[in-house]
Order: sequence, then C-alpha cells, then structure tokens
Amino acid sequence: MKEKIIIGSDHAGFPLKEKVKRWLEKEGYAVSDLGCFSAERCDYPDYAEKVAKKVAKSRNAIGMLFCGTGVGMSIAANKIRGIRAAVVYNEFTGRMAREHNNANIICLGARTTSFNKAKEAIKAFLNAEFQGGRHARRVKKIKELERDV
Ligand code: RB5
Repeated sequence: MKEKIIIGSDHAGFPLKEKVKRWLEKEGYAVSDLGCFSAERCDYPDYAEKVAKKVAKSRNAIGMLFCGTGVGMSIAANKIRGIRAAVVYNEFTGRMAREHNNANIICLGARTTSFNKAKEAIKAFLNAEFQGGRHARRVKKIKELERDV
C-alpha cells in the first residue's frame, strides 16, 4: 500500500506544494494538505509544526514541507520529537535521505528547486528503503540526542 503523505508550506513554497500535490494525487498517493492555502505571506514554523506533529504521531505517514529554500522548514520540523527532516533537491539527496537517514519528512525549496528536480528527489525518496545496519546505529544516536539536556 502506498504511504500517506502529509504536506505543508508557507507562501514561498505554496506554488511548488500545489504542483507536487496534483502530481502525487495523479500517481495514486493519499495526500493530506495542512496548508497554507494561498500565496498570502505567512510563517513557515506554523506549518512545519502542524505537519511534523502529525507525522510524529502517525505510524507510517511521511511529510513534505515546502518553503523558499527548504531550510527554515527543516530547522523548525526537527524541533519536534521523533522527526528527521531533510532538505532534498535532486535524485541523490532524495534517495540518501531515506536509505541512510530514514528521514520521515523531506523539505524542498520552491526558490531553489525546479518542479522537475523536485519530482526526481521525491520519486527517489518514495522508492527508496532505509538500509539499516550501520545507518540504524547512527539514526539511533540521533534519537538519543532528543533526551533532555
Ligand atoms: C520566506 O520569505 C522565506 O524566508 C521562507 O520561505 C524560507 O525560505 C525560510 O527558510
């Protein structure tokens, strides 16, 4: 069964989110869009929080966040316990984000990444599998960083 995909953006990421959403739905994915719903200026941490909290609670959903660069969204989403959000921008980074980092959210920049490159990155991510082994040890160490300091 195809994974459920939870998406969100700020105003800068909105145009790319809309294109990606239409494309993913055509590909048969169930997409849940948590906003924003227009190109009116808004704050990316609000949408990073909504998507990251849903993904953290869900068993098998993955998230996609869109802003100008993907960077702000990834910084914000990674504050939520259980989230591994990665900025991706091509086939290789999309594949590695899953195979090595077991990312549960990918972040894309609408001002840095074309729709075609975004599709390549997303396809690679969706078709890849976490490789486990030494990568599982490293991902476990990331998890351990979530303990209170
Ligand atoms: C909005 O202008 C822009 O700062 C935001 O979309 C994002 O790129 C932040 O990382």
